[in-house]
Amino acid sequence: MLVDRDGRVGVVTLNRPRVLNALSPALMAELSQALAAFDADPEVRAAVLTGGPRVFAAGADIGDMSDRSPVDQLQRDQTGRWAGIAAFTKPLIAAVNGYALGGGCELALICDLIVAGDSARFGQPEINLGIIPGAGGTQRWPRTVGKYVAMEVNLGGAPITAQRAYQLGLVNRVVPAEVTVDIARQVAAQLAEKAPVALRLAKESVNQALELPLGEGLAVERKNFYFLFATEDQKEGMRAFLEKRRAQFRGR
Ligand code: COA
Repeated sequence: MLVDRDGRVGVVTLNRPRVLNALSPALMAELSQALAAFDADPEVRAAVLTGGPRVFAAGADIGDMSDRSPVDQLQRDQTGRWAGIAAFTKPLIAAVNGYALGGGCELALICDLIVAGDSARFGQPEINLGIIPGAGGTQRWPRTVGKYVAMEVNLGGAPITAQRAYQLGLVNRVVPAEVTVDIARQVAAQLAEKAPVALRLAKESVNQALELPLGEGLAVERKNFYFLFATEDQKEGMRAFLEKRRAQFRGR
């Protein structure tokens, strides 16, 4: 995996091209560590997750998994550890070129925004291996695109194109593959200009909408809204608006 910083944007690039970025336990552990380090670093305000120009990730490492028993799976609890990635508190932008399959697709679905190259293909082919997704595929697809497309993808196993994903609201933008990562960096850099605490609570509130009944979700939103009036950034943001200048947010 490659980790780099571009101003306030952290960038993680999955880098196992020989196996199409198959997600081995070691790679997932590295990814968790990199995101935890970005989370702890106040200079990093948003992050991009990509597999580079050709492929995002072709799923869990089948070679690593083929002979495992249920007890092996339970003890390694590989997908349970993905909770650490979902817990990343800053905006996480997926830049997807080529295949995002199986765990690769589930990884993209954990991200907050998805920029897709026109070469991108999203799918859950686990059914073709005699299994089902284990890191959110059967749960995040229906919450994103509804039951019927989720059934098609999870039961049929065939991937969908970037364009169809865009029409379904699964991705934010489709761009030429050669600029996917640059555009995702730009999107992240724009978000990195916003007030960090407000970003964090906006992300948390939207994610709660997928978990909670409306009344409880609205209560979470309202409390987060009130809380933000305790931040210096709220004072700065509103003062800057009234003084017709650009706000300088400090994450306090
Ligand atoms: N785990 C382990 N290795 C993988 C892999 C995975 N998920 N996906 C691809 N690879 C390996 C292939 O075995 C091959 O290795 P080799 O060169 O040593 O034979 C290499 O990556 C290139 O893949 P290949 O199948 O030759 O490329 P392709 O362009 O013909 O097909 C895919 C690309 C993605 C359609 C095909 O590799 C595929 O179906 N992969 C599995 C996807 C999947 O089922 N994911 C869910 C896993 S739970």
